[in-house]
Amino acid sequence: MQSLSIAGMILAAGKGTRMKSDLPKGLHRICGIPMVEHVARAMKAAGVQRPIIIIGHGGELIQEALGDGYDYAWQHEQLGTGHAALMAKELLADHHGPVIVAAGDTPLLQPTIFAELFEAHNSAGAAMTLSSSILPDPSGYGRIIRDSEGKPTRIVEHKDASEAERAVNEINVALYCFDCETLFRILPTLSNSNAQGEYYLPDVLEVIQKEGGVLAAKVYEDQDVTVGVNDRWQLALAENELRTRILQRHAVSGVTLRNIDSISIDVDVTIGGDAVIEPGTILTGKTSIGSGCQIGPYSRIHNSVIGDGSAVVSSYVDSAIVGQNAAIGPFAHLRPRANIGDQAKVGNFVEIKNAQIHEGAKVSHLSYIGDATVHEAANIGAGTITCNYDGFNKHRTEIGENAFVGSHSTLVAPVKIGARAIIAAGSVITHDVPDDAAAFGRARQETKEGWADRWRKIKKAAGKQ
Ligand code: UD1
Ligand code: CA
Repeated sequence: MQSLSIAGMILAAGKGTRMKSDLPKGLHRICGIPMVEHVARAMKAAGVQRPIIIIGHGGELIQEALGDGYDYAWQHEQLGTGHAALMAKELLADHHGPVIVAAGDTPLLQPTIFAELFEAHNSAGAAMTLSSSILPDPSGYGRIIRDSEGKPTRIVEHKDASEAERAVNEINVALYCFDCETLFRILPTLSNSNAQGEYYLPDVLEVIQKEGGVLAAKVYEDQDVTVGVNDRWQLALAENELRTRILQRHAVSGVTLRNIDSISIDVDVTIGGDAVIEPGTILTGKTSIGSGCQIGPYSRIHNSVIGDGSAVVSSYVDSAIVGQNAAIGPFAHLRPRANIGDQAKVGNFVEIKNAQIHEGAKVSHLSYIGDATVHEAANIGAGTITCNYDGFNKHRTEIGENAFVGSHSTLVAPVKIGARAIIAAGSVITHDVPDDAAAFGRARQETKEGWADRWRKIKKAAGKQ
């Protein structure tokens, strides 16, 4: 396919009224990326170098989200799908040959579907190739009307269809291949005298049929091909389907998934072989999971990198990096720019933000480490807090290699703890501690022999009176 020049356009200018949303329909996300981007990526993967996206309602937002890997044509007034397709005329002025047209609300289309369509179109030498599917419940869709020989003669929209036509369950998928010149010759001649007062792209079929042009049709058994998302329930169903496909892709490439109904993985997530994804896990954005990792149960990881052999158990990780064979959780929170080294440990109820925890260091329990560097093999005792914020500015804490910070220490930044230094438990550290030193930042303990016994006796005697 690559060698032949194919053009393609995606209609995404409509308002998407049935979504009941301020967001343009195409921007509603499915498995991490906008619906229209799924279609656009699939089209690109099938060999269309620069798909043209027809935008209108919320067009700037779509352009911003999809970026400059595509061409855009504006449809300022949404006068129907036929009018929308016409907007690509200038961009395709020099194109001779086939042009694929898809809708921005059919996110389950795969590159192979475009390839098959293109193939069918070419081998038939068609002026138009349509795609259809047989649905048990065809309501809402345009119906394919065929003559007694089974040739398609026209497509009738549900709203314009007679009772008899509505009984037809072969529906228009809204995925076509046209001869480019034929399409742009016919589009301006369409009429909008129909139930919706719109120029319907499917009406091109009837014109070609009457002209005696060659029509081809591809009938898909796979109903998923046809999923058009018009409302939020269809959005949910489409996402569920795509989610299942993504899970399947990872499973067959060597990832163990437990309780697939409870796992969500976005389309751009990568996972290495022999990783185990436990129930309740959600992997989003551009997350990358190394091989042999144990993720979950109940972990949520967004835009993060987890190195080979690491475990992230029941934890929340956002825009962080974790090295190899590290142990995170249960119940850890890695926030943006947390960078956890190889063999390091971040235990329960520990929050790390914008901090490097170097190789082999341990922050095992109930700590907040923010804007800090913890060097190799340092041990941060339970309940240690970096006081990184003075209400105006953030300050850094540095903890040297092999340092031992006793439990419940408060490190008031900016402050530096030297290598191998020891901080006594319960200290409030406000001054730098040199290498190999010990620091006690707490009141000295006072012990009164026999005091407790005397106090109890006094209390008991008072009670008898
Ligand atoms: C369309 C088809 C119908 C088919 C169905 C399959 C038409 C007239 N009908 O109906 O035969 O069975 O898809 O899902 O084509 N759009 C624009 N500009 C407009 C109008 C629409 O860009 O002026 C875009 C929409 O953003 C959408 C796509 O075209 O992405 C399809 O429009 P939509 O209103 O969803 O058409 P359907 O009623 O689903
Ligand atoms: Ca639709």
